[in-house]
Amino acid sequence: MFPIVKKELLADRIYLMEVRAPRVAESCLPGQFVIVRIDEEGERIPLTICDYDAAKGTVTIVFQTVGASTRRMQDLEEGDSFRDFVGPLGCASEICEEKNLEETKKKSIVFIAGGVGTAPVYPQVKWLHAHGVECDVIMGARNKELLFYTEEMKAVAKNLYVTTDDGTYGFHGMGTDQLQALVDQGKTYDHCVAIGPMIMMKFVCLLTKKLGIHTIVSMNPIMVDGTGMCGACRLVVGDQVKFACVDGPEFDGHLVDFDQAMKRQQQYKTQEGRAMLKLQEGDTHHGGCGVCGGDK
Ligand code: NAD
Ligand code: FES
Repeated sequence: MFPIVKKELLADRIYLMEVRAPRVAESCLPGQFVIVRIDEEGERIPLTICDYDAAKGTVTIVFQTVGASTRRMQDLEEGDSFRDFVGPLGCASEICEEKNLEETKKKSIVFIAGGVGTAPVYPQVKWLHAHGVECDVIMGARNKELLFYTEEMKAVAKNLYVTTDDGTYGFHGMGTDQLQALVDQGKTYDHCVAIGPMIMMKFVCLLTKKLGIHTIVSMNPIMVDGTGMCGACRLVVGDQVKFACVDGPEFDGHLVDFDQAMKRQQQYKTQEGRAMLKLQEGDTHHGGCGVCGGDK
């Protein structure tokens, strides 16, 4: 069992939980995620890692209450436990790998975090800061009430630019507007990491393609097993089928087919849509990945 040692309401329906999971805390890296289950009957919920402390043996997750499972999570209190806390899953962020550090230090980097996407951006900026790489961060939310982690981010970012869609705090506009404004003021970047809702990542990529800024996105499609077998998290990246849980979650944003990913996300929400996907792709990813050639 994995006990919750801290629970905090960060913003409207956005919760932070620090969970005791020593083995995950010891081996996780920025960019990876976990899959949690409240109990035997519980749904498997994939969540990006917001922070980790190997010495304390804890992993911090941030989630927004959107459906029945996250509603059940919201009701858990300090002292309650998760039945499963599986991870770290997925590939670590390439920009936070020690072997790439010398190359990373030469880059001018900007992160764009949208809404709950702020949570997975934080460990990357923190890791880079701790390794001597200073990055600019643009953090956007719909309004002031939905902002969280501004102080924590300020402590690790070179410059923090906060935006709200309604102008109730910071720059009035979206992360893309802020990036364009910074470029118009003469700022130059050669690497961007964008994490947030798919629609945001799509528009960031359209802009950075125009600006010639290499862009990495962290994809969060529906996930079920998190091990590459069920096919739920299938994406088209360039001319290849990829699975966010094992090949990602980070990809070259300029190659991701966002329209297909968003359509699939919608389709997965209904039984009819899932039946259609099963017909098209088979029961598992082998049913139609077109890459591995395996049988169902
Ligand atoms: P939201 O709808 O409140 O949007 C957050 C911000 O994204 C906005 O304030 C805006 O700055 C930006 N944005 C939205 N649409 C945009 C557009 N068209 N162009 C430019 N910028 C745009 O998001 P939310 O409710 O906080 O987030 C929920 C979504 O984020 C969920 O879909 C969740 O799955 C996803 N999420 C993604 C990750 C990830 O790893 N990619 C992690 C956590 C959450
Ligand atoms: Fe990725 Fe199942 S969640 S293949």
